[in-house]
Amino acid sequence: MKEQLEAIRAKAIAAIEATDGMDKLNDVRMSILGKTGELTAVLKGMKDVAPEDRPKVGQLVNETRETIEKLLEEKKVQFEAEALRRRYESEKIDVTMPSEKAVRGNLHPITQVRNQLTDIFGSMGFEVYEGTEIETDYYNFTALNTPQDHPARDMQDTFYLSPEFLLRTQTSAGQIHVMEKQKPPIKIISPGKVFRSDDDATHSPMFSQMEGLVVDKGITLCDLKGMLDEFVKKIFGKETTTRLRPSYFPFTEPSVEVDVSCFQCHGKGCKLCKGTGWIEVLGAGVVNKKVLEGCGIDTNEYSGFAFGIGIERIAMLKYGINNIKLLFESDMRVLKQIDD
Ligand code: PHE
Repeated sequence: MKEQLEAIRAKAIAAIEATDGMDKLNDVRMSILGKTGELTAVLKGMKDVAPEDRPKVGQLVNETRETIEKLLEEKKVQFEAEALRRRYESEKIDVTMPSEKAVRGNLHPITQVRNQLTDIFGSMGFEVYEGTEIETDYYNFTALNTPQDHPARDMQDTFYLSPEFLLRTQTSAGQIHVMEKQKPPIKIISPGKVFRSDDDATHSPMFSQMEGLVVDKGITLCDLKGMLDEFVKKIFGKETTTRLRPSYFPFTEPSVEVDVSCFQCHGKGCKLCKGTGWIEVLGAGVVNKKVLEGCGIDTNEYSGFAFGIGIERIAMLKYGINNIKLLFESDMRVLKQIDD
């Protein structure tokens, strides 16, 4: 029996040594210590051993089992350690590697300028009124003192949807809506898209304007000029001043074009201001009495001024963009550069 145990032990040691993984190790365990294992068979044969020999034989069997179990356990620990090391190896990260750059988006230049304008006028107490892109002929033209056959209709090439409806050509249409709904004092800006059949390097069939309207007691052209002086300093820089030139719009009287002193050459003359030292930025004027009266506002008591800013034009001037199309082509190489 002793030799048999020795043989089992020797075989087990060799088998354990030869294993190369957990599965094999379990096979070895089962073949020796399992229900039908070799050592288990010996244990089962104990009943045939003479009673006086049993303690000795029992001890031998136990020793053999303990030795084998110890070896199995050692091998198991070794395999587990190896598995862990392999996992560490495969999941290793190099914390010194440069990370992938997180891409941060930015607002479209038009949105940026629109927000800047809204902030500036907001700080002066203007409220925002958003009109609709589809308008009636009445709000876009007639109520703005531009009835059918008025020559000023030719100033804006209009997309008509029907004889009555059109795509608004100017945010000025919003003036009428506001004055119909609200009694003076009125102080609003109205940003939004407008549409004209116009298409070249500085004109697009769709562009954005910001309208401004102030109606109150004793409003004059001086108030307009004072407010514009403040505004241009905020948008183009502290040095900037304004110049008013006579112009014509049916809904303002008098009407003006507003120039700003060139913020690039400070009046010396450069490419941006075409050598004049001045850049045209917006149209404005004192609200025509006919327009106020049409909205039921008493012109003995109230007067107002209005202005209309082209948002793309401001963006192009501010960011040195020479073709309006660059603002609508969604070319990320262009848009990414403009982040105020
Ligand atoms: N609506 C005019 C335009 O689109 C601009 C403007 C607005 C002029 C308000 C005067 C007053 O050209």
